[in-house]
Amino acid sequence: MQKKLIWDLPLRLFHWLLVLALVCQWITAELGSGYMDYHFYIGYFTLGLIIFRLIWGIVGPKYARFSNFLYPPKAIWQYLMSFLRAKNPHFTGHNPLGGLIVPAVILVVGSQAITGLFASDDVLASGPYMSAISSETQSWLDSLHHQIFNVILAIAGLHILAIFWYQFGRKIPLIGAMFSGKKMITDKKTDTAQNGIGSSRLILAVIIAIIIAAFLYWLIAIAAPVPEVDYYF
Ligand code: HEM
Ligand code: HEM
Repeated sequence: MQKKLIWDLPLRLFHWLLVLALVCQWITAELGSGYMDYHFYIGYFTLGLIIFRLIWGIVGPKYARFSNFLYPPKAIWQYLMSFLRAKNPHFTGHNPLGGLIVPAVILVVGSQAITGLFASDDVLASGPYMSAISSETQSWLDSLHHQIFNVILAIAGLHILAIFWYQFGRKIPLIGAMFSGKKMITDKKTDTAQNGIGSSRLILAVIIAIIIAAFLYWLIAIAAPVPEVDYYF
């Protein structure tokens, strides 16, 4: 039995930066207009994180790839039933149920960040694309920006409860692994040298991050329409 590197560094950074960014987005939204600049910048950063995870799901190391943890519904159901019967089926990467957190987060957090680009507080702060659409569409996207956040809270709450259940109820040490990246491979049959990942592919991750940053700069600072301002005085 040996500890092997399973979660690459970019994946772990993605996870903890995402948690931090969502907390900051909640706080800056609650603090109101004076903090909207921070809300926008952290929102763009969050959008960047989501784009990164999408690409990393295709080109990242083994356990970061969608192909490693997206299972058909039948396999997810069988896993759930066997977990509820107090069995601990072994999976080196995400288990079939846990892996669902990745597409769920990409979908809801991605939608939250995109709708934010069109949102407005009707006072001082407006997303860069607010003036690109009709006022009906704008107010619909604005209300989605409010509602989707509740879905994010529900998914994050469920995820944290599940992780604590595994960690303390089933004594499966998942939390430490999301910091160190290393997991103990307990199943003798699957404990082979190929289990771990050789490297975190850091250079590739940095290149992808630079391309995403350039894309976001173009999207927000260059391509965004210049809003027409109505002067009432
Ligand atoms: C805003 C709150 C959170 C969100 C949105 C979130 C999201 C995610 C996502 C997307 C993944 C998949 C990682 C990937 O493959 O890229 C994941 C995995 C994981 N998260 Fe979180 N997370 C949150 C909070 C937490 C907290 C507070 C903890 C620990 C106390 C935690 C522990 C873990 C662990 C251990 C895994 C790996 C699960 C496994 O081994 O299959 N997460 N989380
Ligand atoms: C994933 C990232 C984001 C999260 C989690 C988030 C979260 C939130 C939350 C919770 C609110 C308050 C909603 C309420 O009071 O019910 C809010 C409001 C707002 N957000 Fe975001 N946001 C994100 C990204 C963005 C982005 C990228 C922009 C613009 C560039 C933006 C612009 C706004 C604006 C203008 C408001 C005020 C809306 C109003 O008062 O009607 N957000 N956001």
